[in-house]
Amino acid sequence: MAGLIIKNLSKTFLINDKKVKALNDINLSIENESFTAIVGKSGCGKTTLLRIICGLEKQSTGQLEFTHCNENDHNSKRVGIVFQEPRLMPWLTVEQNMAFPMAENKNNSEIHEIVHKYLSMLGLEKFKDAYPSQISGGMAQRVSLGRTLCYDPEIILMDEPFGALDAFNRRKLQNEFINIFREYKKTIIFVTHDVEEAVYLGQNVVIVDEGSIIKQISVPLDYYRDITSPEFLTLREEILNSILFKN
Ligand SMILES: Nc1ncnc2c1ncn2[C@@H]1O[C@H](COP(=O)(O)OP(=O)(O)OP(=O)(O)O)[C@@H](O)[C@H]1O
Ligand SMILES: [Mg+2]
Repeated sequence: MAGLIIKNLSKTFLINDKKVKALNDINLSIENESFTAIVGKSGCGKTTLLRIICGLEKQSTGQLEFTHCNENDHNSKRVGIVFQEPRLMPWLTVEQNMAFPMAENKNNSEIHEIVHKYLSMLGLEKFKDAYPSQISGGMAQRVSLGRTLCYDPEIILMDEPFGALDAFNRRKLQNEFINIFREYKKTIIFVTHDVEEAVYLGQNVVIVDEGSIIKQISVPLDYYRDITSPEFLTLREEILNSILFKN
């Protein structure tokens, strides 16, 4: 597994010759096998940070350093990302979509075994031969998660992956994901603009506003958390207030 240290990281975009500072001097330590939730308003730089971590975007200044990892692995193998929308290949079945990222370095029986393990875990076995257009949004998001798990990265980045789901499916997938985290000991960085979701999932909640980290809060509560408990509500309120009354 792996952790990550981010040092003095900034990102400036140019939009019509005007500079937009998306991230401003980010310093963050992500522990090996930890669950970090990053929470903040729309446009605060969450996706940009994930895109830089997984190498889809280059930072303007600053460094990223992976820790606890196999030196021989390429960075792209260490990090996998689940996007807000499932991004499945419409011409491939559920099973083929999940197998797709493994095609290069595994034989067919290994691929079959891994895909079926996650199909079963995510309750998708009955739909393995369906195409993306034949399954619901919640199932598609599960396939997308399964595809990343099959790829087996050391660090999983999640960009508001449950944002489009109804409250029932959302809670169900959050709980399944907690199980996966506990069973497979991955390092998770989970982005959301939903404060309750951040406190429900994260061991550490990083609050970002206008491209800067304004606060970090550790959540000393066991899974599965009671969202009505006084401890939970106090943490939720503390995070909301730190954004609402920043200055
Ligand atoms: N490719 C790009 N080119 C130019 N500007 C960009 C690009 N990507 C992001 N930005 C800018 O960077 C800032 C942060 O955007 P980002 O997508 O990281 O926000 P976010 O926190 O993920 O928001 P949301 O919650 O709405 O997804 C915004 O001002 C956005 O306009
Ligand atoms: Mg985003």
